[in-house]
Amino acid sequence: MQFLLADKLYQIEESFKQMFFGSQDIGIDLGTASVLVYVKGRGIVLREPSVVAIEKATGQLLAVGEDARRMLGRTPGNIVAIRPLKDGVISDYRYTEMMLNHFLNKVLGKRLFFKPRVMVCIPSGVTEVERRSVEEATLHAGARKTSTIEEPIAAAIGAGLDIGRPYGSMVVDIGGGTTDIAVLSLGSSVVSDSIKVAGDKFDEHILRYMRKKHNLLIGERTAEDMKMTIGSAFPRKETLYMEVTGRNLISGLPKTITVTSDEMVEALEEPVQAILETVHSVLERTPPEISADIFERGIVMTGGGALLYGIDIRIQQYTRVPCFVAEDAISCVAIGTGLALESLSSFGRGTRFYLSGNRSEDFFAD
Ligand SMILES: Nc1ncnc2c1ncn2[C@@H]1O[C@H](COP(=O)(O)OP(=O)(O)O)[C@@H](O)[C@H]1O
Ligand SMILES: [Mg+2]
Repeated sequence: MQFLLADKLYQIEESFKQMFFGSQDIGIDLGTASVLVYVKGRGIVLREPSVVAIEKATGQLLAVGEDARRMLGRTPGNIVAIRPLKDGVISDYRYTEMMLNHFLNKVLGKRLFFKPRVMVCIPSGVTEVERRSVEEATLHAGARKTSTIEEPIAAAIGAGLDIGRPYGSMVVDIGGGTTDIAVLSLGSSVVSDSIKVAGDKFDEHILRYMRKKHNLLIGERTAEDMKMTIGSAFPRKETLYMEVTGRNLISGLPKTITVTSDEMVEALEEPVQAILETVHSVLERTPPEISADIFERGIVMTGGGALLYGIDIRIQQYTRVPCFVAEDAISCVAIGTGLALESLSSFGRGTRFYLSGNRSEDFFAD
């Protein structure tokens, strides 16, 4: 009863704040490839690559996000463009913090009153210490309260799965650095696995294929372009062609050749196979009742890597379980992070299972 009353008061207070000061709840997807910010009531307000540009000698931050990404592979000797979350772990804590700070300031501006509550979704490889540092960085940047949420849970909520019920569902999130696979029931993960094979590995294999098969050295950006344009995990009904320019390794001169989508299937076979095997191993470890639920409901795919043509077909063929790519797969995690906040506000204090760590109580105490 006391809880109910407190919740009601809290809701009234929140609506007042919203009326006069705009939204107070923010969800951030701190991804290895991109950072997305979701603001309650406004949707996705920021979408930028997780890249920072640094002056080598001084360590000074020169550019963040899209501005920094343009410098990747094109920087002169004294500037480096780095991805602080590459491979799904915080490889550089200081730059991750600076980047997060920059994006939050961009979204929040200068606020003196009614600082927002911020929920951050962190990559699965992040350690406890790194998780805390992310929370601290968020507080530094002006959050009133902060907490972190596990990626598969955010992805599932964002994909529209009702994970609070005692019914099994499976999410495969293919991001930049990692593929995270989780079987969820009653709001938490029952079985999960994560491998460092995802979008970046796809690019790497395309690069390697071009070097071996065509003696052509291409850049990372070109490889990613190829993946998005003609990349395929399964042969397309109609073969696509793309002109690709790189440096011929024999003559040392620029050269343009035509590459087909069928070649991409060959180039991507190894990483695709690795993902299939991991999905399989998670299914193998899933309790039978939950397996039956998944079989009925299907596997849901999220993350940018899920957009690789045919990856859903391959998973479906390999596991014999129906597989779907979620609507707006790239934004799923950010939306789910924001929605988790919303459902937490309306459910009140009972919904602890959405959060990682044990900080949910602090999160609500004002
Ligand atoms: N249409 C597409 N086809 C294939 N891969 C894509 C497509 N769009 C984005 N990607 C890839 O998705 C990855 C980023 O996914 P995202 O979910 O944003 O990653 P993260 O959560 O790690 O930040 C990148 O490797 C990018 O190249
Ligand atoms: Mg992600």
